Amino acid sequence: MTEIQIKLNGSVEYVDVEPWVSLLDLLRDRLKVTGPKKGCDQGACGACTVLADGRRINACLALAISYDGSEITTIEGVAHPIQEAFIRHDGFQCGYCTPGQICSALGMLDEYRSGMPSVLTETEQVPPGTPTADEIRERMSGNVCRCGAYNGIVQAIQDVAGTES
Ligand code: FES
Ligand code: FES
Repeated sequence: MTEIQIKLNGSVEYVDVEPWVSLLDLLRDRLKVTGPKKGCDQGACGACTVLADGRRINACLALAISYDGSEITTIEGVAHPIQEAFIRHDGFQCGYCTPGQICSALGMLDEYRSGMPSVLTETEQVPPGTPTADEIRERMSGNVCRCGAYNGIVQAIQDVAGTES
């Protein structure tokens, strides 16, 4: 067991973890933060997406011990217009994937604004402004929604990107 310290949604937490414990299990089972969901537990669905020091990660693939000293944000720590946009655009049905979709979207928009290209980016520079629907689909392709709320999710992200860019 090793004691690690994380800043979770603004609160400093000290917790003992074995080296094999995933960040997702630490959050859900030990810290009782259940917004991040365990869909596949193997990096294929994105339901567990959280922000680690502002960058989106799959918490099921992350070893908790590697995040000693990090700032972790889950959906419980998010207060952002994108949440209203998801409601406005019907971006979810069951909501199981939604915490991960929203954390991923926030990380993705930061990546876009910082100029990080995707496989679809044809120009040398990422164009400023709102990402196209295709760019959003590509960049959000690691987040699966079993209900098929994809069009609403894309519209919600475009809506927020448009007002923030
Ligand atoms: S539970 Fe982590 S990607 Fe599916
Ligand atoms: S809203 Fe149901 S899985 Fe995405």
